[in-house]
Amino acid sequence: MSTLTKMALGLIGQLKAQPAVGDAVSTTQLPPANMADGLPLMQALAQRQSLREFDPAPLPEQTLSDLLWAAAGINRPALGGRTAPSAMNAQEVDVYVALPHGLYRYAAQTHTLHLVSATDVRRITGYQDFVDNAPLDLVFVADHARMKLVPAAQRESYASAAAGAMAQNVYLYCASAGLATVIRAWIDRGALTQALGLNNDQQVLLAQTVGRPKIAALP
Ligand SMILES: Cc1cc2nc3c(=O)[nH]c(=O)nc-3n(C[C@H](O)[C@H](O)[C@H](O)COP(=O)(O)O)c2cc1C
Repeated sequence: MSTLTKMALGLIGQLKAQPAVGDAVSTTQLPPANMADGLPLMQALAQRQSLREFDPAPLPEQTLSDLLWAAAGINRPALGGRTAPSAMNAQEVDVYVALPHGLYRYAAQTHTLHLVSATDVRRITGYQDFVDNAPLDLVFVADHARMKLVPAAQRESYASAAAGAMAQNVYLYCASAGLATVIRAWIDRGALTQALGLNNDQQVLLAQTVGRPKIAALP
């Protein structure tokens, strides 16, 4: 769907999810993240970039596992510590995972995906047309209820900083794995809030598209 069509539909409150493609699964146990491979950090940093042309082919489950662990996984099990920082370790940012067969929430403690809605919400995750057909759109959602110790005026900026750290982890994983990605703030937040079924404490912060690069798009 074109950006203009999305904007027009958004204005009249008609930017809606599509029926799921394939079968949604209520809980998916992801395989353990593979921490043995990948580029050295400095080489991944040298290759980090935003790309906006995606091959629609689905990503393997191992790739999904690795990139979600990179984004928000538990890296210090004894402490419940995560791969990305959060103010006062509030861990207030959830990662929603929009796949063709459904919308899921990543649960770091169990490294599982939990079904939120058996619909395809990819097209609502941003105004740009590539988000509709890329195999994966992530949405970073703050839960203000987990930030009671942070002064109210600072909650949004702290959560945005935490989401930015997660997004950079995804960028570096993608650079390491030869995938394309782009972080995005240009979103119809009303439509996406509704499609994600968020409550009044939850706030859409950013979205991020991931997929294999279209061959012609490679620099
Ligand atoms: C907070 C933030 C919001 C962004 N929003 C969008 C967006 O909505 N759409 C998009 O295509 N790129 C978006 N970007 C990506 C930037 O355009 C991109 O990082 C910039 O052009 C530099 O390119 P590079 O990432 O390849 O270095 C955003 C980046 C940031 C940090």
